[in-house]
Amino acid sequence: MIDQAATDFEAVHGARPSGVWAAPGRVNLIGEHTDYNDGFVLPIALPHTTRVTARRREDGRVRLYSAQGDGTVTDLALDGLAPGVVTSWAGYPAGVFWALAEAGHPAGGADLYVDSDVPTGAGLSSSAALECATAAALNDLYGLGLTAPELALIAQRAENAFVGVPCGVMDQMASACCTAGAALFLDTRTLEQRHVPFDLEAAGLRLLVIDTRVKHDLGDGAYAALRAGCERAAGLLGLDALRDLPAAGLAAALERLPEDLAPLVRHVVTENQRVAETIEHLDAGRIAALGPVLTAGHASLRDDFRVSCPETDLAVEAAVAAGALGARMTGGGFGGSVIALVAAAEVAAVSESVRSAFGSAGFAAPVTFTAVPSAGARRLA
Ligand code: GLA
Repeated sequence: MIDQAATDFEAVHGARPSGVWAAPGRVNLIGEHTDYNDGFVLPIALPHTTRVTARRREDGRVRLYSAQGDGTVTDLALDGLAPGVVTSWAGYPAGVFWALAEAGHPAGGADLYVDSDVPTGAGLSSSAALECATAAALNDLYGLGLTAPELALIAQRAENAFVGVPCGVMDQMASACCTAGAALFLDTRTLEQRHVPFDLEAAGLRLLVIDTRVKHDLGDGAYAALRAGCERAAGLLGLDALRDLPAAGLAAALERLPEDLAPLVRHVVTENQRVAETIEHLDAGRIAALGPVLTAGHASLRDDFRVSCPETDLAVEAAVAAGALGARMTGGGFGGSVIALVAAAEVAAVSESVRSAFGSAGFAAPVTFTAVPSAGARRLA
């Protein structure tokens, strides 16, 4: 694969690359829409990665090519990069150059060849994978000496300020910092993190990912509106962030909130509790006990946060009816993917039941695969 990457790079850029870097997509086990509320998240990295093959350029130009693109090279002047200037997929890597410079860690120009098997628009963080692979490449090419969490923050800044998507920090932290065999427990306020062993194999279980193929798009305003709603609720309650509302104070807080904000707050507070509960189960080696927590998380996203859709709801229902221990949508919502915790022997039957339920409902066939907790961003060669 690495020889192939060098050959592909040379065919486009006319020279040998200096290296190949990879960063993964992610699924979040639990802790949804908590990251921009200073709360807790628990993602794992997927085995699917975005690879960036790269070399430095000394003329201040950034030349970007994607194997999944339209066959053209996007050629940009480093000193002309500004939010809003690059509107295609190239905005994600270009945004990383921009964010590095803004943060006082300027990289010079570079040629990049991007290739990815992270499904796009599936809620699996293909954009974070692209940003983090680019950041890892530039960190090494230009000896910037940044740590994985620092690179994640640069990547998030690229997405927030350059691309214009107001996401939290979970996806970039997952892509930059996850380790194989573990979930990443992250406090999104302090950025304190812990790698929590998550050995599905030993428990005889699998994590089935069901991509509903309903394209989700965080840029469409609904995500920003939810984020603004949460911030407004925190303000009304006199809190810095919803993270600061303890579960014991939830009932009283709900009475003080307008009807449209109360369910958002209930979701965030109970979701942070579900993260804590999940961590307790994992630390005690009770992986099967995660099932009901996942399903409760889905109900909260569906009924209180209202970010599910008929396809994700059906995938959860059909998976659980077919014997999954639990299931929920993962990521921002409005489509995207569902995860289901399933006994190893049941994977084929559960996948088939979901497929058949989708067929009966007239939905496009979902794509399913099992995910093992994989490594974060790294240099491959
Ligand atoms: C998207 C965002 C994340 C997070 C999730 C919801 O994936 O990029 O920051 O807010 O939605 O948990």
